[in-house]
Amino acid sequence: MKKSKLVFCILLLVIFEANMGCKAKPDTSVNASVDRKWWKEAVVYQIYPRSFKDSDGDGIGDLKGIISKLDYIKSLGINVVWLNPIYSSPNDDNGYDVSDYRNIMKDFGTMADFDLLLKGLHERGIKLVMDLVVNHSSDEHAWFKQSKSSRNSPYRDYYHWWNAERVKPAPRYSLFDVNHDAWKYDSLTNAYYLHYFSRKQPDLNWENPKLRQEVYDIMKFWAAKGIDGFRLDAFQFAAKDTSFPVFPKGYENDFVKYYAMGPHLHDYLKEMYQQVFSKYDVMSVAEGAGNSFQDAHDLVDAERNELNMAYAFEGVDIAKVNGYSLLHFKEVFSRWDSAFAEKGWLSVFLANHDQARLVSRFGNDSAAYREVSSKMLSTFLMTMRGTPYYYNGDELGMTNAGFTNISEYRDMPTLNEYQHQKNIGGDMQQFMKRIQFECRDNGRTPFQWNNTANAGFTTGTPWININPNYTSINEASQENDPNSVLLYFRNIVKLRSQHLELVYGKYQLLDKDNPKIYAYTRELNGSKILVLLNFTSSLEKPNIPVDISKAKLLIDNYGSSPNDGKLRPYEAVVYQL
Ligand code: NOJ
Repeated sequence: MKKSKLVFCILLLVIFEANMGCKAKPDTSVNASVDRKWWKEAVVYQIYPRSFKDSDGDGIGDLKGIISKLDYIKSLGINVVWLNPIYSSPNDDNGYDVSDYRNIMKDFGTMADFDLLLKGLHERGIKLVMDLVVNHSSDEHAWFKQSKSSRNSPYRDYYHWWNAERVKPAPRYSLFDVNHDAWKYDSLTNAYYLHYFSRKQPDLNWENPKLRQEVYDIMKFWAAKGIDGFRLDAFQFAAKDTSFPVFPKGYENDFVKYYAMGPHLHDYLKEMYQQVFSKYDVMSVAEGAGNSFQDAHDLVDAERNELNMAYAFEGVDIAKVNGYSLLHFKEVFSRWDSAFAEKGWLSVFLANHDQARLVSRFGNDSAAYREVSSKMLSTFLMTMRGTPYYYNGDELGMTNAGFTNISEYRDMPTLNEYQHQKNIGGDMQQFMKRIQFECRDNGRTPFQWNNTANAGFTTGTPWININPNYTSINEASQENDPNSVLLYFRNIVKLRSQHLELVYGKYQLLDKDNPKIYAYTRELNGSKILVLLNFTSSLEKPNIPVDISKAKLLIDNYGSSPNDGKLRPYEAVVYQL
């Protein structure tokens, strides 16, 4: 080749490379700076099927009821639904006692209904996460019936048995038992079986590889149907030291320390990952995250190949009957965020089916502030790093029913504890006061659809009383009110979906020592969002080193910018800086 031709070719190559970006310029796109995943960008809406919508007038919500509300669910802007258990169950614990993992609870409908529900969700771009309850089954499951029938049953080792002729088993605390005793004697085979929850919820023996394989097969059955994830109920308790050592006196006051993260738990999760999670595009989250950040990281850090995200209780546990301190709240959420800033992924939530209502616990459910404080709490949940989990009914600002008579309560552990307190001569007035505020039945009263009889939930007699305030707090009336809690919820969910800063961005706490205001920024690739939340009923001024005069208002729960830089009661405001 002639020299001039060669120079020409090199020149062409240089121009070509420059134009095509072959000389690698740093990639500043979001994709390059974060590990994007659909389950990180999701907003999870939790549906408690028993209380959502009844289609057949038996007073119990069902799958057809949920199907009839699919357009409503879609209208929220959420993209994942988590359904509490819908499998066959004698309902000792509202479905958390499964008697057949491959069938649908009669009260809820049929497998054909389930298939329609899944299809309807997918058609609307919504994924479905199912509850998987495998720390225990129902005592009416065929495995347990077999297991209890004889010491020689091939199913004996599916559960934890302790033959009674041995010395008594070391005490184990039961969360739900009337005597708090987790060992139940069974005369048929003269042995005790273990139940961390109720007597009708015997614990499965994860040491047994056959049992584990049964569970993975069940998971594959549902994954093959096309579901999109699993929430593993109480799974941190699944692994046990089956020699059942004696725990120190008083261990029951701190039982999670002794029950969580038992031997081989990680081996089981790795096996589950290898057999199930790795083979399907499903997300996975376990209830509870152990006793430390290390425990939580060990469950979810990506390279460990176990679970996707942690669901830790420290935040949701803050609110007590006597209130809570915002400084504590900020400290807890900031500490968790920073522990997961570089690695791992968190769920962010303040309510679920095991809690009383969001606005009654963390906000202010008085007539004056219910709406604005509900909106403020939704703003918090939708602007934190992590995947938000939002409980049905909170988008209307539903409140605690606060039943005053024990006959109105339905929750099995609450009724057992009532009996327990009576048996030991406990302070019943104190007990009633406590459950009025914190019993999970508060979060399980039927969804308030409209102001017709039974809030439009059922044409029959509801399984649990409806909160009488349904005449004023209901979905239908909020649809027509431009200032409603519901419309605000849709807007704040939309805002999150439009700003990846709110999903992945760095979190920085501002005005740390302010006991009334929660202020923080979220920043991604140079784009910064400021969130200001007033957690009180007074006018408060944040002390922040940020000039907001040129900031763009993204959303405000009063519908207008704050006056004089002061936040009105429970005001929530989000700016693009
Ligand atoms: C945790 C569930 O969230 C709760 O509702 C249930 O009662 C217990 N696990 C037992 O399954």
